[in-house]
Amino acid sequence: MDTVIDLSPLNSIFAEYKDIKGALIPILQKIQNQYTYIPEPAVEIIAEKLNISESEIYGVITFYTQFYTQPEGEYTIKLCRGTACHVKGSKSTLEAIERKLGIKEEETTKDNLFTLRTVACLGACAVAPVMMINDEYYAELTPEKIETIFNKFL
Ligand code: FES
Repeated sequence: MDTVIDLSPLNSIFAEYKDIKGALIPILQKIQNQYTYIPEPAVEIIAEKLNISESEIYGVITFYTQFYTQPEGEYTIKLCRGTACHVKGSKSTLEAIERKLGIKEEETTKDNLFTLRTVACLGACAVAPVMMINDEYYAELTPEKIETIFNKFL
């Protein structure tokens, strides 16, 4: 649910793409960079400015996994679910995180502290299973390590 959102940054985004046809994707990217997600009121404005329906815009948002409709938590967890990490037990790592934080994949904790995402490969297969919390890597994860890591945050 969106409360009060300052939509004034949208003016400069639309000014930048004013004369560019088919600018929906770059506009969505800019908006997401600004807010960490695509706020509902922004979709209404995009529909009006680009003269397309809101359902068409939501179609694009849900088609591309890069776009989110909920605000990102203060910390974004990116847990690798690539092959090497899967073989080394990333599923039990994921379950440990879900248990610890009380959320599922793609959800954000109620206090807005953590968002849990899964990704294909973080490029650190040699030390699988791996996750990142914001810009920091955590390697050779086990459910026990997950406890220790998150206890530092909570
Ligand atoms: S598969 Fe997980 S880091 Fe490459």
